[in-house]
Amino acid sequence: MSKHIVITGASRGIGNKTSRKLAEMGHTVTAISRSEEELNQLKSDYPNHISTLVLDITEENAGKKIAEHLNSLSQNIDGLLHNAGVLINKPFAEQERADWQKQFEVNLMAPALLTKELKSHFNPGSHIVTISSMGGFQGSSKFPGLSVYSATKGGLSILTECLATELSEDKISCNSLCLGAVQTEMLEQAFPGIEAPVSPQEMADYISDFIINGHKFYNGQILPVTLGDPG
Ligand SMILES: NC(=O)c1ccc[n+]([C@@H]2O[C@H](COP(=O)([O-])OP(=O)(O)OC[C@H]3O[C@@H](n4cnc5c(N)ncnc54)[C@H](OP(=O)(O)O)[C@@H]3O)[C@@H](O)[C@H]2O)c1
Repeated sequence: MSKHIVITGASRGIGNKTSRKLAEMGHTVTAISRSEEELNQLKSDYPNHISTLVLDITEENAGKKIAEHLNSLSQNIDGLLHNAGVLINKPFAEQERADWQKQFEVNLMAPALLTKELKSHFNPGSHIVTISSMGGFQGSSKFPGLSVYSATKGGLSILTECLATELSEDKISCNSLCLGAVQTEMLEQAFPGIEAPVSPQEMADYISDFIINGHKFYNGQILPVTLGDPG
């Protein structure tokens, strides 16, 4: 059965490949990011499966705009992938207030507020997946420069556990995937020259299957998805 999945951060990296994979699996996708050109490319590659919304997920009316988009498609949500993220790699002592604000807003506040504002648009049996990081996984190795980013991702994972409890009466499942390193622009900018053991396509294949099927086996789980590397 075809499902409708909303994906934030669909312009590049893991979110872009996941949008494409889900379309190829026969599902429909609302693909969201701020970059219009990349989204237009997605839409033209999969005209029957992908619709797009150019949006900064931190803006005040973001949830309302997604809801209006869904109404225009006469679609409810079967899956919501909170994938958009930012990483500012800086020593803790050099992280400015604006760095804290940006990372918290994109990585934690936006997923929380969007989930709240879209709550009435979920079909029973739907699945919310948050894309966290091994840096935000309790007990994992920690790396200099990633304190704020990792704190936001740890918060996102705990939020996911809380939502799994609170949204269970609406028959919505929530799980958090803590990714290890994946070869994307984010990784290349933060750690130039690093070679990740996993490609965006490989991770997208895993995430696409997980958002469609994972809630049959997991709810309220914070799951490491790593070969032992940082993320
Ligand atoms: N790559 C890794 O090694 C790794 C490891 C662990 C976790 N992760 C997590 O995986 C997720 C995807 O990462 P990636 O590596 O694919 O990163 P990426 O290539 O940098 O892509 C990030 C995506 O987030 C979107 N985005 C950022 N700010 C946004 C905003 N304010 N509003 C809407 N969209 C926004 C970007 O789109 P626009 O700029 O077009 O808006 C882009 O599509 C992130 O949450 C990241 O933290 C990645």
